[in-house]
Amino acid sequence: MVNATPALPRVFVTRRLPEPAMSRLYEAPLVLDLWPEAEPPPYDNLRRRVAGCQGLLCLLTDRIDEGVLDAAGPALRVVSQMAVGVDNIDLAACTRRGIPVGHTPGVLTEATADLAVALMLATARRLVEAANDVKAGRWRTWDPMGWVGPDLHGSTVGIVGLGRIGAAVARRLRGFAVRLLYHNPRPSPFADEVGATWVPWETLLAASDFLTLHCPYSPATHHLINAAALAQMKPTAILINTARGGVVDQEALLQALRAGQIAAAGLDVTTPEPLPPDHPLLSLPNVVVLPHIGSASLSARRRMAEMAVDNLLAGLAGERLPHCANPEVYEKK
Ligand code: DGY
Repeated sequence: MVNATPALPRVFVTRRLPEPAMSRLYEAPLVLDLWPEAEPPPYDNLRRRVAGCQGLLCLLTDRIDEGVLDAAGPALRVVSQMAVGVDNIDLAACTRRGIPVGHTPGVLTEATADLAVALMLATARRLVEAANDVKAGRWRTWDPMGWVGPDLHGSTVGIVGLGRIGAAVARRLRGFAVRLLYHNPRPSPFADEVGATWVPWETLLAASDFLTLHCPYSPATHHLINAAALAQMKPTAILINTARGGVVDQEALLQALRAGQIAAAGLDVTTPEPLPPDHPLLSLPNVVVLPHIGSASLSARRRMAEMAVDNLLAGLAGERLPHCANPEVYEKK
């Protein structure tokens, strides 16, 4: 009689994950190939390592395109990403091949909203500039006009994309007594609860003291904030981006900031990531750039990793992913 024990599935994981997700992977019935470096696998390594795998657990820094899917071959049963945004993955190609893609919605909503508000305060109240001046010995005395900036309290905040994260930002801002406006392609189910008013795009641009971006990145939102949009904003306006760098035309933003067309920008996301240290945006005192840390709270990162493992294990077992970014894949089956 032939031994019918099925071979364990092979999985490539593109970075070490936080605990307890990492231990769960070591203990799961699978053959684990873990990329050991702190930086992402270069594209060619990714293609080599994924060849013949049944599972791929990746991050937003990995480009998962037809080339990677071809290299993986027909055995690939699941792609699980430790992020909610999946713009680095060719979802349509995965769906065509019948591969479900896991992602991590919900668990980073609050952490990202916290950071968006932190960036509003950091840019308006010039926190980074002021702290750097203290460190550099430029703080000589209490100065009536030193490091002054606009109030968040009582301002008009425009939310681009009133989804889960946009609504979490809106809830926080109630404490700042702001007027909340938003623009979505369709009215948001959160609008009444958070007290936000839908306005046309042009109105949002013209009326907002703070414009905060919470839309997914897609061909439809590529360079949504371009020269034309920036030209319609107030010269005192502050742009906050915790979504994806590609939503903003960065060259146009740089020109607008230099020309005083808008007052400041707080960017947790850029193109590329990381920005080269000599990038002109980094030399502007009214720009705060962070290293894509919207979800970087201990609990959010832990839960994202756990969800990614849940999705991976479900996919390997042939079960429906608990959080699937391309649910249409199941209609084909
Ligand atoms: C995501 O999950 O898409 C976030 O950008 C990670 O911080």
